[in-house]
Amino acid sequence: MTHRHPPTTIAGALAWARAVLNEVAGSEPLDAPLLLAHILGCERTALLAHPQRPLTPAQFTTFCALVERRASGVPLAYLTGERAFFDLTLIVTPDVLIPRPETEHLVERALAWARARARSPRIADVGTGSGVIAVTLARHLPGARVWALDVSRAALGVARRNAARYDLAERVHLVQADLLGPLLGARGAFDLIAANLPYVPTSALETLPVSRHEPRLALDGGPDGLAVIRRLLAQVPRILAADGLLLLEIEAEQGERAAALAATALPGARVTVHADYAGLDRVISAEWGACKG
Ligand SMILES: C[S@@+](CC[C@H](N)C(=O)[O-])C[C@H]1O[C@@H](n2cnc3c(N)ncnc32)[C@H](O)[C@@H]1O
Repeated sequence: MTHRHPPTTIAGALAWARAVLNEVAGSEPLDAPLLLAHILGCERTALLAHPQRPLTPAQFTTFCALVERRASGVPLAYLTGERAFFDLTLIVTPDVLIPRPETEHLVERALAWARARARSPRIADVGTGSGVIAVTLARHLPGARVWALDVSRAALGVARRNAARYDLAERVHLVQADLLGPLLGARGAFDLIAANLPYVPTSALETLPVSRHEPRLALDGGPDGLAVIRRLLAQVPRILAADGLLLLEIEAEQGERAAALAATALPGARVTVHADYAGLDRVISAEWGACKG
């Protein structure tokens, strides 16, 4: 990629970057302004207000480097180090999955359920990654106590920074664990267990562009994509309260199979498959107390 006559203004730099990224599959029209705003430490709208502001050579060089990395397929969030989710802006690094808008469905269900109950919930977020589910729930449920678990130490480091960013370190407890491991002695103690665990079938990983950049540990769900979820389901009955709720994010094709697994693991639970705004199966809920006699 060459830029023999480096543009020296915001408008010139953006025009150059747009032309470069225009050719790149998966890039969005806002990528260029978001990268430039990140480098200049300003809001994207400020770029529009000062199009003729000159860039320093160092700023332009840094911008070119980021545009080139974006053009090579690196996700925008890994370049800016942040991702918006719900009403939060979360820190992300290549150690964590970039939070997806689809996960807001799980969070919305969790919030609605918790708000309809009399007591403040005790919540476990399994496979917390950036801490997106744990931190969003703790922020919106002021009485909740949340255990955020992940097998990845590096991911927990990011989740810690996100909890601190929203002043939630006291209510978000970070635990390095294989699934619910260290909590299994706490019989019936958790009102809500939420999990967005790896669910991509191993054979599909190679063809997925995300697997080039996002951690394999966050994506690989084993031969049928349900291996990690199956192991979690074997643990859940030990610590879920008698009137508790399990929420699992799933891939669109897994609705029926995941629902059957949840129904077997939690006998008597009301198991429901919920679709996202695109009409695709996205979340399984299992309300344990709902159908008990
Ligand atoms: C799909 S990512 C989801 C991250 C985050 N919850 C979100 O919604 O963006 C799955 C996460 O599960 C973690 N993980 C994978 N296997 C695990 C296991 N056996 N026990 C705990 N966490 C695990 C990964 O490290 C990763 O952070």
